[in-house]
Amino acid sequence: MKYYQVVTYGCQMNENDTEKIHGILESMGHQETENLEKTDIFLINTCCVRETAENKVFGLLGRLKKIKESRPSMVIGVGGCMTQLAETAEHIRKRFPFVNLIYGTGCLHNLPDMIDRALAGSKTLIDSGQPEGIFEAIPTKRKDGIKAWVPVIYGCDNFCTYCIVPFVRGRERSRRSEDIIAELKELAEKGYKEVTLLGQNVNSYGKDFKGSGDSSDFSELILAAEKVEGIERIRFMTSHPKDFNDRLIEAIGNSNKICEHIHIPVQSGSNRVLALMNRGYDRDYYLDLVARIRKDLPKVSITSDIMVGFPGETDQDFMDTLDLLEKVRYDTVYTFVYNRRKGTPAEKMINQVSEQEKRRRIEALIKMQNEISLESNSKEIGSVYEILIEGASRANDEVMIGRTKTNKLVLVSGLTKGAGEIIRARIVSYSLSHLDAVCLD
Ligand code: SAH
Ligand code: SF4
Ligand code: F3S
Repeated sequence: MKYYQVVTYGCQMNENDTEKIHGILESMGHQETENLEKTDIFLINTCCVRETAENKVFGLLGRLKKIKESRPSMVIGVGGCMTQLAETAEHIRKRFPFVNLIYGTGCLHNLPDMIDRALAGSKTLIDSGQPEGIFEAIPTKRKDGIKAWVPVIYGCDNFCTYCIVPFVRGRERSRRSEDIIAELKELAEKGYKEVTLLGQNVNSYGKDFKGSGDSSDFSELILAAEKVEGIERIRFMTSHPKDFNDRLIEAIGNSNKICEHIHIPVQSGSNRVLALMNRGYDRDYYLDLVARIRKDLPKVSITSDIMVGFPGETDQDFMDTLDLLEKVRYDTVYTFVYNRRKGTPAEKMINQVSEQEKRRRIEALIKMQNEISLESNSKEIGSVYEILIEGASRANDEVMIGRTKTNKLVLVSGLTKGAGEIIRARIVSYSLSHLDAVCLD
């Protein structure tokens, strides 16, 4: 038995991969530790969507260098999206020669063998082939006992011109619906109450099934998921506007379990920029989609990702984004400054926006969205919601934390237990980050 730890950067897909890495290591008989002194196997699950994510990994490797010098037997592995890029993998091998394992996003099934060989003293082992296929046999070890991420489709075929993900996650591969439903049943038996169906673009689910005998699309999958007894809430992300259809809106409307929260990234409010980004829709299409969603699902919360400073984005393009923000009035927006990624089409585009201008735009965007989010939260006062309780607040154990179906974070007073239970509570005050409520049960 060896002690291990895994550090994760990046999105929920990486978080889920880390759960699989835990599953693999535990099935090999190893045990997790948080104590660096004791750690025999140290793995880093990396992200390369922006430079900041990569720099965190380089910083961590720099710190690990000293530890490795004093304890050469410790196995250090770097996996995930960064290592899928040949140039980055080579850079890691050269600059951090003490790294024992470099493994890509599609090679988790080879990890046990690689770890055994590294423990036995092999020099740097590299496995970063193009991610292909799906390996259902890999065990997943989750920490949370209430909410679970469940991948339904891997990879991305959209090739937005700024984005590295299709290059590091490979082509779209949907899991067979029966495997997904079997996993949901297993989770329900273990007492899980909420699942989030995951994919870079869940609306593409099943498009790659042609001729395979499985003909499910995402609406059918989510309706099948709803029939799993014990699972009380179903979320999904991320949705791509171009593939979001009315059948899904209908499925949400007819369901008690599918949560009324849709994360549907727009990226920009300018038609010109949307075309340059290769997003496959324009602002009128998007605004119409939002109107259709709101008409049929009046209680829905809508969230988005928005990027500023895409190459060639003018002041007018940015004003179009602010205008769209004002029109849609999102509950929350994740804001990003465009970051040049090597190998993507946008890297080569002329008219890159200056860092100073990008800063100015992101600050204006955040300011406007904060006002909108605050106003949206202020309207919640007096409302009664069903809240899935996740646990006690770290700051105050007289307060429990949970979420509404619309994914708003709520601090509930008047109850001191009930993790995993759904309770009713009335909203009494609000801030930008959360709502405060009093338990009614
Ligand atoms: N598949 C999802 C998420 C992709 S990554 C989707 O399509 O929405 C999450 C977010 O990171 C993206 O929505 C985008 O806003 C942002 N992002 C991707 N590449 C980026 C880049 N090069 N610079 C800055 N932000 C980026
Ligand atoms: Fe990247 Fe676009 Fe795919 Fe999302 S849909 S992962 S932004 S290429
Ligand atoms: Fe990052 Fe890879 Fe996710 S690049 S955003 S961890 S798919």
